[in-house]
This record gives sequence, structure tokens and C-alpha cells, in this order.
Amino acid sequence: MCGIVGYAGTSSANADHGALDVLIEGLRRLEYRGYDSAGVAVVADGAIHSRKKAGKLVNLENEIAQAPLPESVTGIGHTRWATHGGPSDGNAHPHLADGGKLAMIHNGIIENFAGIKAELLADGVEFLSETDTEVAAALLGKMYSNGADGDLTKAMQLAVQRLEGAFTLLAVHQDHPGVVVAARRNSPLVLGLGDGENFLGSDVSGFIDFTRRAVELGQDQIVTITPESHSITDFDGNPAEGKEFTVDWDAASAEKGGFPSFMEKEIFDQPAAVADTLLGRSDAEGRLTLDELRIDAEDLTKINKIVVLACGTSAYAGQVAKYAIESWCRIPVEVELSHEFRYREPIVDKKTLIVSISQSGETMDTLMAVRYAKEQGAKTMSICNTNGSTIPRESDAVLYTHAGPEIAVASTKAFLAQITATYLLGLYLAQLRGNLFSGQIKDILADLGKIPAKIQDILDRSGEIKELARSMADASSVLFLGRHVGYPVAMEGALKLKEIAYIHAEGFAAGELKHGPIALIDDGQPVFVVVPSPRGRDSLHSKVVSNIQEVRARGAKTLVIAEDGDNAVKDFSEFVFYVPETPTLLMPLLATVPLQIFACELATAKGFDVDQPRNLAKSVTVE
Ligand code: M6R
Repeated sequence: MCGIVGYAGTSSANADHGALDVLIEGLRRLEYRGYDSAGVAVVADGAIHSRKKAGKLVNLENEIAQAPLPESVTGIGHTRWATHGGPSDGNAHPHLADGGKLAMIHNGIIENFAGIKAELLADGVEFLSETDTEVAAALLGKMYSNGADGDLTKAMQLAVQRLEGAFTLLAVHQDHPGVVVAARRNSPLVLGLGDGENFLGSDVSGFIDFTRRAVELGQDQIVTITPESHSITDFDGNPAEGKEFTVDWDAASAEKGGFPSFMEKEIFDQPAAVADTLLGRSDAEGRLTLDELRIDAEDLTKINKIVVLACGTSAYAGQVAKYAIESWCRIPVEVELSHEFRYREPIVDKKTLIVSISQSGETMDTLMAVRYAKEQGAKTMSICNTNGSTIPRESDAVLYTHAGPEIAVASTKAFLAQITATYLLGLYLAQLRGNLFSGQIKDILADLGKIPAKIQDILDRSGEIKELARSMADASSVLFLGRHVGYPVAMEGALKLKEIAYIHAEGFAAGELKHGPIALIDDGQPVFVVVPSPRGRDSLHSKVVSNIQEVRARGAKTLVIAEDGDNAVKDFSEFVFYVPETPTLLMPLLATVPLQIFACELATAKGFDVDQPRNLAKSVTVE
């Protein structure tokens, strides 16, 4: 959940930037991972110099402006999402140890810190914070002096052998200018390769301003960087390899591009996110070629069940996938929250295909669930937006979404790209297993190909929904209803509002209303209703129109998302936003967009920071 960055350079090779420039720029890009506090430590003049401050990065910048740091070319930086100890200056990272000679930053949770702390207290070590990190720093200091003979990498090996839990640790020592040592277990870390300088980051955005050459690091590895070199070992000191890759986006993709917030920019990126995710994955005859899947076609024809594992917005993408894949492939699809799956006794075997969905590829709940499913013999496939991240690396197969970097904590473009990827998977399975004729697949792909322009049409009319949002800035509760694929859309609409506008919001299956939730409806209660196409299946449309009438009869203010030309809803709605016609199964790619715009605008009207909502972090790397 925290963001970490490390740097080792030389003043001659990289004259235009020093360690502090790299660290602050990296933290600015990684701040989406947590913003309870920020801090840096640099090595200069044979000493460690550190500044840290509770709150957002700007507080740290102000602190450094008042108490400048010396010039340096070696350092570490941290932006925190608090776990052990509240978000105070004292609990902010870096933590110093060994009489201030070394500094450490950490992402994750060290589960056995209490026992180690007791041992160190007995040795006479004093602790200034409530964090598990300070315990790890003190342990590193102890190992440095006893056992490692002043070798910082060796000391890290000895220290991590004592630690349990999830951690990425970065350390610098006053006696080793030009050296940063890092270790990772169950927590993300990427190495960036520069010219006369090297970098470490929680993800590539930590150094994207300086290099696009990156190296994926494996589980339980230690990496030591200097300006000219890097060496990777396992926790026992045996040499290990990383996998080099080139980042396929640049620093400009991670800028706001003239929009007031990353979230709004990312909402407007959605035509491209869907188009790019579709790109190159089918030919003119409508034949899908998902070569990158790395999973045997024969194995895929043998699966008898799909289990989708994900959290939050990604889980709602999974729920949309269930409707589409079951309809196209006639394979049962279960969708389960990763953390619930992991700690029961799920029934999976080698005929089960696990499809994990994760924007970051680092969500710990999902990673643990995937590992567990693998141990049970299931095939695992990852739908992911982050190249080189842990979940795709540990899965048998991967289908990358091409949404580009998503910075705002509230997921938007990644959601639409995830849904698109699950459609591709469903159609591919239908092609392999012969559930659909090639002409049918071609038609669906053609409909998918029209989606980006239809999203653009919605974005061009965003003013209508923004005006509604501004008029509702005082709302204290908003309900969302949907049926079929409209149900996960309703839940996603509610989640967006909760996350960034801090308004009570619930998404319900419209049919469930009469079984309880309708008691919530009172005079003026705003209710969004996602209405399926009137051209769609059976009586789905008329059932939802009846649900609108039921809530309206009890005083609800009905706000409707309906398909172009659906006149049946007009008489029962205070507000209607029309989305272009599309087949029912693809409708979430359109109906979600006005709900995202609504939440973004309402939160903005309330004066909230939509990119960095309170209590949240973009990447949830603790269980
Ligand atoms: O990176 P992931 O897709 O695995 O993240 C899963 C959830 O934490 C994430 O979707 C979260 O719910 C978002 N803040 C929703 O906007």
C-alpha cells in the first residue's frame, strides 16, 4: 500500500538531477499508493540525513524547503498508507537505526515484529515509533554489526531470514554512499536501469521520468544497486536473475493532460482503453488469437468451471464476465471475492480455470487466493493492467488490459478494459470449444469495435450528468438498482460514490428490492436505475420499468440510465441519461460511464480530492 523509491547515481553522470529530485518526483507519482505521510533519507558527507512529515507529499516538500537537505546522489523515499501506528510524523518512514547510521523504508506488514521487538528491547534498543518497520531497521542494524561484518547486503540477508509476513524493505547506510539494498517478499519492487544511475520503485512509475528500462524481481529476492551495477540474490545469497522489460508508456501518459483530476482524465481515456485492449487480438474474419495467453488450447477445452477471483471494482468486472461467459460458452462461472475464497475450503481442481482480475497485479488478497488455487491444482489466468506485476507473473496465463497507467485511486478505465478483456476471453473459449459459430463471434467483435465511439458520445454529453451531480451535492444517500449485467453496474456506481464522495450508497439487484431494501425508500430518496435495452431479452426491460415505478410510488427521486429511444422510462423518471444502443451483454461498457462522471463531479462539487480519497490506497498490498 505504501510507495517506495530508491536511487543510486553520480553527480558527474546525472548532472541535472540529484537524489532528492529523483525521490520527490518518484514519490509524486507513487503517492496514489498511500498518502498518510511521506519521507526521504539521503546519504551525504558520511551521514544519513532524513526528513519526514505526516500528511501528503506537499507537507514533506514544505519541510524540506524550511530545512534543506545536503546535495546527495544516494537515497530512499517513502509515501505511507498506515498499518502499524497512526499517520503521525513519528510513525512516518524512513526509520533510523544503529544510532542513526542507517535508514530503512518498508511496504507491507511484518507479522512477527512483536517477538523481535521484545528481543531487541532486551538488548537495550530504544524505539521511537509504533511501527513494525523500525523493528526491522533495528534488526538490520544488529545484523550489520554482528554477523555481516559491515556488509549491508549480507546484513539484509540475515535480517530477512528472521522476518515473516509481507515486505519490501529498502535501506541505506552512512558508510556506503552510492549503495541502496532492497529485499522483497510478497510485496512489489521493480528495478529501473539508467545510464550511470539505477533506481528502485514499488512500480515503474517511481522512475518513469528517468528510464523506461525495468527489471521484474522475483519472490524472496535481494537487490543491491550502485550507480554502475545491480546484483540480485535470493535470501540465502545465491545469485538470482530478474527479467528485463521496456515500459510501454511514458511519463506523459501519467500526467493529467489538462484535466482537473486524474480521475476525470482517466474517465475520458476510456474510448482508448477499450480500443487498445481489443487491438490486435482478432483478425478480419473475426478469429481471436490470444497467443500471449501461454495456456494450452487443449487444456482450455477441458475446463468445466471458471472461478473469477478479484476485489472491489475488479470483482464487479468479474460479475459482468459471468453473464457473458456463461451465455457464450455454457461453462459455469463463479465470482468470488479473493479474501473470502482464500479462507474457506473452495472446491477447485485441475479442470477449474481460475481467472483473477486485478488492475495493479499486486492486490495481496487476490495474490494469496491465486496461490491457494494453484496449490489445489487449478489452472490460473490473470487479467491485469500492470506489466511485470506479481499476479500475472505467478499465473499460468495472462491477458493484459491496455488501459495505460491508472493513477486515481477510484478505478475507471481499468474497469472498462477488464470487462473488455473478459469478453475476449469468453469469445476465445467459445471459439475453441465450438459454442458459437464464427459468424456470431465476428458479429459480437464488430459490436465491441463500435464501443469506443459510443463511449465518446457519452463523454461528449457529460455536461448533462455533471449538472445533475452538482445539484445533488447535499445528498446523504443514493441507491443504485440494476438487473442482469446492470446489477454489477449498479454496485460499481455505488462504490464510486462511496469512495470519493463519502456518501452512503448501495447497489442492489432490482429484483431484490421487494425483499427488504425497499424499506429504505422515503420521500426524495435518490435512486439511480440502470435500465436494460428494450430490444433485449425476455421481459428484462419491463421488469426494471416496474421496479422504477415501485420506488417512485414510495417517493423516490428516480434517475435513469436507459438506451437511446427508450420512451417507456420517461414518464417515471426525474432525470434520464440516454446511452447509445448496444447488445445487452455489452451494455456495462456504456452504462457505467455516466455513473463515473456523476461520482467524480459530485465529489468535486463537495470540494474533495477525487484522486486521493481519505483512508484509501490504490494498491492494497496487505491482507
Ligand atoms: O488492483 P486491483 O484491481 O486488484 O484492486 C482491487 C480493488 O482494490 C480496487 O478495484 C478498488 O476497489 C478501487 N479503489 C475501486 O475504485
